[in-house]
Amino acid sequence: MLDTIIKNGIVVNADSIAAVDIGIKDGVIVQIGDSRYFPEAQNVIDASGMEVYPGMIDSHVHINLKLGEFSTLDSFENATKAAAFGGTTTIIEFAIPYEGETPLDALERRFKEAENQCYVNYSFHGCFTESNINEIQQVKELIGLGIPSIKMFTVYDGIVRINKGAIYDILKEIAAHDGLALFHAENNEIITREITKHVEKKNLSPAGHATSRPAIAEAEEVASLLALIEDTGASALFVHMSTGKTKDLLDYYREEKNLPVFTEVCTHYLSLEGDVYREEKGQLYICSPPIREKEEKEALWQMISEGLVDLVNSDHCCYDSAQKNKYKDYFPNAPNGLPGVETRGIVYYSEGVQGGRINRQQFAATTSTNTAKIMGMYPKKGRIDVGSDADLTIIDPEFIQLLASDQLHMQTDYTPFEGKELKGRVVHTLVGGQHVIADGELVDEQFHGSFVKRAKPIKQEG
Ligand code: URP
Ligand code: ZN
Ligand code: ZN
Ligand code: ZN
Repeated sequence: MLDTIIKNGIVVNADSIAAVDIGIKDGVIVQIGDSRYFPEAQNVIDASGMEVYPGMIDSHVHINLKLGEFSTLDSFENATKAAAFGGTTTIIEFAIPYEGETPLDALERRFKEAENQCYVNYSFHGCFTESNINEIQQVKELIGLGIPSIKMFTVYDGIVRINKGAIYDILKEIAAHDGLALFHAENNEIITREITKHVEKKNLSPAGHATSRPAIAEAEEVASLLALIEDTGASALFVHMSTGKTKDLLDYYREEKNLPVFTEVCTHYLSLEGDVYREEKGQLYICSPPIREKEEKEALWQMISEGLVDLVNSDHCCYDSAQKNKYKDYFPNAPNGLPGVETRGIVYYSEGVQGGRINRQQFAATTSTNTAKIMGMYPKKGRIDVGSDADLTIIDPEFIQLLASDQLHMQTDYTPFEGKELKGRVVHTLVGGQHVIADGELVDEQFHGSFVKRAKPIKQEG
């Protein structure tokens, strides 16, 4: 006897697409094929007219993040509920050390916050800041605990930034233990100087946020880090890339030098353009790197279609409009980041798949399969196959919806995508075989998510 059968859907993997049924038992996929030949099941989900994807993974989510003056507003409970509504079945959050904490202390704190509070599966990235440069031996311990990815920020000076010398040493340690470095890459010196100039000229509206963080600051930092990555042999992922300026260089390091260098883009860079900062309420869109102009947006889509972008994630940061408004006339102090864990998948689906920019397999690859491989979860996650976990996202491709913040479940009062007409809707979300979202509604208030202990990352995507 099976627990659940999903029938009549189109099953999409990164490398296949087929009209097959799925049989689930004890949280695992045990049958793929024609359900007339499966054993009976307790539950049957009719996915007629729908597409079934490997459960989406969002490996760039901030929950209850304090960065300077502001803290984001959600808990693991709220954020993972919103994730489930958005079709995401696994999130990876960042254990960023606060004042006086080591990376392992921060991880322990996050474990306590998340335990028995998650509607979807969860894991964490480790993180080193300037205060932790004498704790580099913890790289090995983190990797041993199933936390193979280590984040470093080259900006947010005095809060989480870490110096280049320490980055070099940490990269050596990550390479020695087969981990993965994650970088927020923007050149701190360029940005600091630009912000000072903006302050002097009293150019302090939200538009100044974008002009003080030029794309070259991002491209320069990526180039510098690539040199260290090559020298140390570490695997690395550049998160939230917002510019096409690094395209040729990344292509060279990946294709010619064959180095394990990976890239992430976030939905807001693919869906929005720089005019958001020049219009009313520009403060609601402040994030780093900033949303750039149309040509950059098009360059990112081009990189996705050429396979130069591995992951599309949210960089979810749940501030509300009151927090965003506080420094609407003084951008240097404004909270950075946008809410998006619920909208990331479907906005990307609508604009990417339905917009004719990517195909369904590329969508599966960039929302789930590549992430599972790069983050050490494949093939239990990131694939619809016998033996994989029954984490599944079922999308109705024809459903037309207008995005409105009052219909979303994130702990904020706005969405950067307000009023967007989307083609596509997440109808069902299954986490470990449990039906968490059914027909767009939460099935019950139970926490079906569990911690994902991750293995060493796969070095080459594909
Ligand atoms: O503006 C952003 N991206 N805020 C969140 C923290 C980070 O840099 O990822
Ligand atoms: Zn070591
Ligand atoms: Zn960042
Ligand atoms: Zn982030």
